[in-house]
Amino acid sequence: MDFATRLIAWQKQHGRHHLPWQGTRDPYRVWLSEIMLQQTQVATVIPYYQRFVARFPDIAALAAATQDEVLTLWSGLGYYSRGRNLHRAAQQVTASCGGEFPRGFTEIQTLPGIGRSTAAAVSVFAFGQRRAILDGNVKRVLARCFGIAGYPGEKPVEKRLWELAEELLPTVAIESYTQGMMDLGATLCTRSKPRCGECPLGAQCVALREGRSAELPTRKARAPLPEKECAMLVLLRDGEVLLEKRPPSGIWGGLWSLPEIAVGDDPAQAALARFGVEADTFRAMPSLRHTFTHFRLHIHPLQAEVRRCRPEAREESALWLALADALGAALPTPVRNLLTQLT
Ligand code: ADE
Repeated sequence: MDFATRLIAWQKQHGRHHLPWQGTRDPYRVWLSEIMLQQTQVATVIPYYQRFVARFPDIAALAAATQDEVLTLWSGLGYYSRGRNLHRAAQQVTASCGGEFPRGFTEIQTLPGIGRSTAAAVSVFAFGQRRAILDGNVKRVLARCFGIAGYPGEKPVEKRLWELAEELLPTVAIESYTQGMMDLGATLCTRSKPRCGECPLGAQCVALREGRSAELPTRKARAPLPEKECAMLVLLRDGEVLLEKRPPSGIWGGLWSLPEIAVGDDPAQAALARFGVEADTFRAMPSLRHTFTHFRLHIHPLQAEVRRCRPEAREESALWLALADALGAALPTPVRNLLTQLT
């Protein structure tokens, strides 16, 4: 039996068949699910996906929303550029594709946030087209099964993996095959402790035969993550907290956050200069740590009860919100955790 035949038979018997985005060919839902599933596990995605489609049932509804509404529903899922790109893409489809999600493989890839693999997944699940995907899970399955060494982020390695992914495609049951690649990578062929005894590809897997599963795919030779620090102001006034909207790009772009200052800056001076807020006694709260792809951030929150407020000095992008309402805003995860502790 060949690779695809084995995988398809396995998917039909052991794969996942009841995920909320399965059983639809609506390109909007397929697209949304694929974006949410980038770097994020199925169990995390499910409630976000359900809330999102309930609030924005189609592309037109999403295009008509504000970025703030979209980011509020994305809050906690991370990688917020995905949400911003999704929103922009919906507006692009509405403006220039007559509101219909495009069917052309090349055209799909012109939308913000959709690369080759995501375009292929949408083409398969929404349109039944024969296209190859190559996300992180699939790279791992192929690198192990065919013994492809070298970091998959390096161009020649990635090129070889794309060639393999294309060569292996079946001429039938492309949906089951594609779902099978995803399911195998997520459930059996996991990064650590793969369950090779249950794998349909065990008989042909180079890594299993040669005992190389732990070293394939080859990891990136990494410098340690850079560490950064900042302080955040937790300004409280009659049960309300001051939030500030972050600039549209960069980390947590467009999200509502606690005002950030440099470590060592005088919090009282910053609060007065930026928000017209008089507070003198700042108390250090326990620090938080948040890891991004490219650095680790240590956040040192400084809490103060505000004595007096000069509203005329307030920044446009700042807002006093009752703590309970603040938790309904588009907040970064560490800020949400911190505010939850205060309630
Ligand atoms: N990961 C990426 N796309 C997926 C999908 N459609 N189902 C399950 N896991 C996935």
